[in-house]
Amino acid sequence: MDKEIANEVDSCKHTPDHVSGHKSEEVTAGDAVTIFDTTLRDGEQAAGTSLTPQEKLTIARQLDELGVDVIEAGFPISSPGDFEAVQLISREVRRPIICGLAHCRPAAVDRAWEAVQGAAHPRIHVFLSASDVQLSYMLKKNHQEALEMAREMVARAKSYTEDVEFSPMDATRADVPFLYRLLETVIDVGATTVNIADTVGYSPVNEFAALIRGIRDNVPNINKACLSVHCHDDLGLATANSLEAVRLGARQIECTINGIGERAGNAALEEVVMALRTRQDVFGLRTNIDTTRIYKTSRLVSDLTGFVVQPNKAVIGGNAFRHQSGIHQDGMVKESSTYEIMDPRSVGIPASSLVMGKLSGKHAFRERLAELGYTLTDDALSHAFRAFKDLADKKREIADRDLISLVSEELRQETQVYKLDHVDVSCGDHTLHSAAVRLIGPNGETLSDAALGTGPVDAVYKVINRIVGIPNKLVEFTINANTEGFDAIGEVLIRIESNGGTYTGRGASTDIVVASAKAYMNALNRLILSRQVAGDLPTQGARAVAAAAEAN
Ligand code: KIV
Ligand code: ZN
Repeated sequence: MDKEIANEVDSCKHTPDHVSGHKSEEVTAGDAVTIFDTTLRDGEQAAGTSLTPQEKLTIARQLDELGVDVIEAGFPISSPGDFEAVQLISREVRRPIICGLAHCRPAAVDRAWEAVQGAAHPRIHVFLSASDVQLSYMLKKNHQEALEMAREMVARAKSYTEDVEFSPMDATRADVPFLYRLLETVIDVGATTVNIADTVGYSPVNEFAALIRGIRDNVPNINKACLSVHCHDDLGLATANSLEAVRLGARQIECTINGIGERAGNAALEEVVMALRTRQDVFGLRTNIDTTRIYKTSRLVSDLTGFVVQPNKAVIGGNAFRHQSGIHQDGMVKESSTYEIMDPRSVGIPASSLVMGKLSGKHAFRERLAELGYTLTDDALSHAFRAFKDLADKKREIADRDLISLVSEELRQETQVYKLDHVDVSCGDHTLHSAAVRLIGPNGETLSDAALGTGPVDAVYKVINRIVGIPNKLVEFTINANTEGFDAIGEVLIRIESNGGTYTGRGASTDIVVASAKAYMNALNRLILSRQVAGDLPTQGARAVAAAAEAN
């Protein structure tokens, strides 16, 4: 980083000291970039996601292990489910700052505080449109009115907690002198972080750099707050803009795992963190992230949100460390640094030659899972080990990706309201397609039925619908083989819609009909759980759930 800039930067004084306790290596103020993860808020805003509070807690725990400094857990006033998730995470995840989002309304700020007040380190994040196009069309406010709204709501948030962030939404399309005044105003009333949002991913790097420089030079009290950036990826510039901003003195980056978020998504955490680490020589900056946990976190988020990571995705895509051409392979054999700028193990991708199979014991199984970053309870481990043995009977060599799939399946079972107990299908090209299914209901009751369908999957879905009785529409169905070979595990991803919500489900099995049934049960269970949280389905009893769903 520019020496002159480094000296001027007052850093994020407000980044709490406790975050540096995460790793043995001390991160000194000035060279530390605060990683603000908004997977559970902006990431969850991505079209086609909906996570239950319990699933959000699972992700928050993983983000904590990863070492993020701030978790934006949700937008509490937006829905009862969001409120519940933020409150739950605030109570359970104690090391990082837990942040709740609020727009510029007293009720939103109050609700955000209600949700985060139980956190060990609470933050309220207030935002307001800053561009003329948004102010005039959406809020019908002029600059003076906007300044007043921001001043009042930041002061209100400040009356609850010391740690207050303010975001001028659509800052990159705002009138620049007005933006300076807005930032000065909110810092005056106590904003400890100001977050420059490229909400629509509009700004090329040179323009964003000029904006950051301009803010540093023209907002007189800017050194009293931490300068943060929040970049969207509509033009594929989110990571580049975030990095340029920290090079120029910003000390917080807002980002999401796998880059998920509104439209084209947000800056990807794994990209900004690995760029800072790999090019220490350029940036001279560090984060508190334990990069070896990136891959597992990415898998978990992909699993729960249903957003598959594209193979060529930087840092964590399936091909990110694969070398195809002869010349590249030759280089890799001679010296990996010829074509590899990062060690795959540094992001937690296992580079193991150990092959698991029929003869592998429980100890080796546990060890391998630990190397992959999974620690299961004794019960879950025994269950997963039985599933592993079943798989080993069908498949000679079990790859890491099979193991991850198997464990993910195990973890999904933990939150099921209805459990799939048995599936039996009959199919072929000269027969009627039929399915018999047995489920275990919410009170442990056995529920079975049978049906005919146009194919085995259709027949299975018809039976499940008959038993569970919750109307929904299937909008996406994909099958992917996990590894090469005819004996590969098939992973099914589905999306269903019901009552205006979208729910994803995943299932894995060497039998694709069983995988499809598991994926459907997973999606239905998530639908039920989120409607239970919203209060429009009872929490007990299969009949009551079905009756209420029908009445709706
Ligand atoms: O993109 C955006 O402007 C946001 C704000 C709420 C920070 O997500
Ligand atoms: Zn955003």
